[in-house]
Amino acid sequence: MDKFVITGGRPLHGEIPVSGSKNSALPALAASLLTEETVVLHHIPRVRDIRTMQRLLVDIGASVDAEGDAVRITAAQVISPEAPYELVKTMRASSLVLGPLLARAGRARVSLPGGCAIGARPINLHLAGLEQLGAAIEQSHGYVEATAPHGLRGARVRFDRITVTGAEDLMMAAVLARGETILENAAREPEVTDLAELLVKMGARIEGAGSSTIRIEGVEKLYGAEHTIIRDRIEAGTFLIAGAITGGDLTVTGCPVEHLSALLDKLRQAGVEVRTEPHAATVRAPGRLRSIDMTTQEYPGFATDLQAQYMALMTQAEGIAIISETIFENRFMHALELARMGANIRIDGRNALVAGPSRLTGAGVIASDLRASASLVLAALCATGETVIDRVYHIDRGYEKIEEKLARAGALIQRVE
Ligand code: EPU
Repeated sequence: MDKFVITGGRPLHGEIPVSGSKNSALPALAASLLTEETVVLHHIPRVRDIRTMQRLLVDIGASVDAEGDAVRITAAQVISPEAPYELVKTMRASSLVLGPLLARAGRARVSLPGGCAIGARPINLHLAGLEQLGAAIEQSHGYVEATAPHGLRGARVRFDRITVTGAEDLMMAAVLARGETILENAAREPEVTDLAELLVKMGARIEGAGSSTIRIEGVEKLYGAEHTIIRDRIEAGTFLIAGAITGGDLTVTGCPVEHLSALLDKLRQAGVEVRTEPHAATVRAPGRLRSIDMTTQEYPGFATDLQAQYMALMTQAEGIAIISETIFENRFMHALELARMGANIRIDGRNALVAGPSRLTGAGVIASDLRASASLVLAALCATGETVIDRVYHIDRGYEKIEEKLARAGALIQRVE
């Protein structure tokens, strides 16, 4: 298993480029199952979750050709409408094939995701929505069997709580359903909007994506299309925090500034100098950072996927920051590892109290999930001495060549086997 060895204390300078969004690319790949024609996607990040999704599409019967950051998918036939446990257990987003398979083949068999490091993460809302579209759902042997032999029909679906992949799954099911579907209390994340744009290019009729009510008028058939995925706001945010935490002067290029308002506001309040251009953001950190409370929320609120990284930053700020996690019930695993490096953090239910500034020192730490690993990398970049981060396969799930990108900006980071 690979590890990162990081020697901290070097301010980051220069430029770091942002890759395409993992969480936008995953549903876009799944959407290619909705047509027998070829879908070409650009800006697909070369990360492990994407490779897993590509494997799943091949198992289902699609041909997938990757060249650079472009991927061509042709699902001429659906041979096996199934997402097996072996793949779902490594990537929960495999459940994104449920909607498209049901719409295209009238049948889907998808393993239920098990427990997860950050919370329970059930897919009950996906299933309830699909039932409202006329699917019959059965669960046995750890699998969901969904069938719609006579096709799906449009319906009004109100989500009990906001779910990102739930909205994506339902949108993909509804595009080929008979009649109109209205999704209420839908997720407004930019990844949902990006998927809607791809589906519209494929011939779907969708209005309102990006708002909490999405209207979909089912069509007979979808066609091939070409689409460029949006840039990864979470990767971009992670690098902006890297610039700030190291006291550097760093420009993040290809930065989706319009999707990062909540983070940029917090950084400014904390005393970081932030300059933005249409596709780039530059951070310059002052000698002292201020502690600023933060609560995670659905978009356009502060992303839960940046909470761990923000906590690393707050260990360097003057005062006490209260960080509240409202999306997932168990997303503070990084706090204990940060504490091993010298951070002063107390967990109280869904709140973490971070008192700073703390002098972090390098230590051996273990990555527990994707974003937790990113926060440990950030802490290591500002710690004195050497940090060894174990289980970096978690970070490889969602960050493309992170060690190369950081090294180019002056970080001392090495991958060792
Ligand atoms: N929820 C339910 N039932 C459902 C679905 C969700 O109770 O059927 C709950 C979840 O347990 C959670 C909340 O609703 O407490 C929100 O979960 P959501 O469904 O929005 O999460 P997701 O769609 O599974 C996506 C991202 C996550 C990101 C969340 C929240 C993808 C592939 N994943 O997950 O990304 O944290 O939205 O923004 O888009 C990551 O990239 O590291 C990551 C975990």
